[in-house]
Amino acid sequence: MSPAVDPIASFLIGTVPVYGDAILAPMDGFSDLPYRSLCREFGSSLSYTPFVNAMEILARQPRALRLLDFLPAERPVVFQLFDSDEERLLKAAQSVLDLQPDILDINMGCSVRSVAGRGAGAGLLRDPRKVARIISSLSRALPVPVTAKIRLGWDDRSHNYLEVARAVADHGGSLIAVHARTRQQRYSGRADWDAIAAVKAAVSIPVIGNGDVQRAEDIQRMRQHTSCDGVMIGRGAIGNPWIFQQRERHQVPSAEIVATIRRHAQAMVSYYGERDGLVLFRKHLVRYLQSLTVAEETRAAMLSTTSLAAFEEHLSRQERLQGSPSRLTRGRPPR
Ligand SMILES: Cc1cc2nc3c(=O)[nH]c(=O)nc-3n(C[C@H](O)[C@H](O)[C@H](O)COP(=O)(O)O)c2cc1C
Repeated sequence: MSPAVDPIASFLIGTVPVYGDAILAPMDGFSDLPYRSLCREFGSSLSYTPFVNAMEILARQPRALRLLDFLPAERPVVFQLFDSDEERLLKAAQSVLDLQPDILDINMGCSVRSVAGRGAGAGLLRDPRKVARIISSLSRALPVPVTAKIRLGWDDRSHNYLEVARAVADHGGSLIAVHARTRQQRYSGRADWDAIAAVKAAVSIPVIGNGDVQRAEDIQRMRQHTSCDGVMIGRGAIGNPWIFQQRERHQVPSAEIVATIRRHAQAMVSYYGERDGLVLFRKHLVRYLQSLTVAEETRAAMLSTTSLAAFEEHLSRQERLQGSPSRLTRGRPPR
């Protein structure tokens, strides 16, 4: 069946059908192959890589290229690149086509000084004509849809998201993801969902809304408020893949949380190796543990071990302890 007439796709990115409206956000350090695969299986409908520096791709740096690893089951896969230079972005994108991404996204939202300050990431928002040139040259040269992830503007005095969104839509872009904050706000302050609605009304390509989705119920609330096609979830999905099953954390039984921790830890170890996998897993684990009641010594041991056998032993003990509240201390409540 041609994707263009696929009746059950939620929306199309160019010719790529997307099934489902909840999407794990690109998050450097979190949205790696193991966690993306887990979230995709739980219902996230697209896999975005974290942002990758075009210069590092062109230098064939192994660390950068590794960020582009993905599993076939993750498709559709979006490679996200960042740079301030049009030609480098194009060359870097062309040089990773052999890895067969489904979609190529340009990061126009990173607020970190070393990125935005040199005109990449959110720095691109200051130059909508450059945005238009980048999207135009990439969408003409690449055989895959080209998309952009933007913020509302550089700061309070430059809310130019409609101009930027039109620059993307009018020059061949196939989708816009809107993190509804400015670069100045970084990750605090309320996301402005009215701005997402305004972008959706202004362009005819699909729009993904992003910002302040913490709970499963927020997904439909954002869709209703903004009419956006998809909802992207960042921090609210850390330690909480169940959000993609439209379930709230408190609805997930402890045994299921423990089983998911075990699975995620094993996936980290098989991808990164035992020591690195468990060390990198700690920032996820801290968030999973917020939903569990865990003995303080078990928590400390799980967050410090570099042995998978020891980690699994702690998890098994945790499973046995469930139902013996006298031996447990209360975990921190979910944020
Ligand atoms: C740790 C972390 C890393 C991030 N890395 C990226 C990234 O690589 N690319 C990107 O477009 N956005 C990145 N973001 C921004 C998120 O994709 C998202 O836009 C932002 O967190 C707002 O969504 P939220 O309120 O659901 O967290 C990152 C955010 C966090 C917290």
